[in-house]
Amino acid sequence: MKKILIATTNPGKLKELKDHLKEFEILSLSDIDSVIEEPIEDGKTFADNSLIKAKYYAEKTELLTLADDSGLCINALDGRPGVFSSRYADGDYEKAHQKLFQELADKDDRSAYFQSVITLYDPENNKYEQFEGKCQGKILKESRGTGGFGYDPIFMPSGLEKSFGECSPEEKYKYDHRKKAIDKLVNCLEK
Ligand code: IMP
Repeated sequence: MKKILIATTNPGKLKELKDHLKEFEILSLSDIDSVIEEPIEDGKTFADNSLIKAKYYAEKTELLTLADDSGLCINALDGRPGVFSSRYADGDYEKAHQKLFQELADKDDRSAYFQSVITLYDPENNKYEQFEGKCQGKILKESRGTGGFGYDPIFMPSGLEKSFGECSPEEKYKYDHRKKAIDKLVNCLEK
C-alpha cells in the first residue's frame, strides 16, 4: 500500500483528505517524530504555495508528500481573500464571515468559488504533479450551519440550496473543490 504524508496543520482539511484517501496508508504531520517548523507560504498562486508546502515537507521527511493549498475567491472583491483565505481569518472565522458580509454589503454580485491545488511530491526523484479543483457558488447574506470548517457556513455551491455548513461531509464531497482535485490525483496514481 502506498504511504503518503499529508502535509497540513489544518484539521478540517486533514479530515477531508483522509476521507478521500482510504485506500492509501496515510501519515499526518503529527505522526512525524520531529517537530517541523512551517514553511513560509510566499507564493502568489495556490499552485505556488501548494508546491512550496509539498516540496518542503517531502524534503524534510523523505516521504511521498501531498499538500493542498486552497481558498475562497470572491469575484466582486477581485478574487480576495484567495491565497490569503487562512490569513484573512487569522483563526477567527466568525469575524472573517462578518468582515466579508460588510465588504459585500453594497455589491449585487455575490458569486464566488473555492479553489484547491494539490501537489504530490516525490522526494526520491524530485518530481511532482499538481491537480486542481474548483467549486462555483455564492456568498450568503448570513452564516448557515455549523458543519465543515473555515468559510463553509457562508458559501452555497451552485446546484444546492444550502451552504456547505449545512451539508453532511458526503453531500459536500459531491460538489467541493478538494474532492475534484483528489479525484484527479487518485486517477493518476491508479494509472
Ligand atoms: P491554506 O492552508 O493556506 O491552503 O488555507 C486554506 C484556507 O482556505 C482554509 O484555512 C480556509 O480558510 C479556506 N478553505 C479552503 N478550503 C475550504 C473549504 O473546503 N471550506 C471552507 N474553507 C476553506
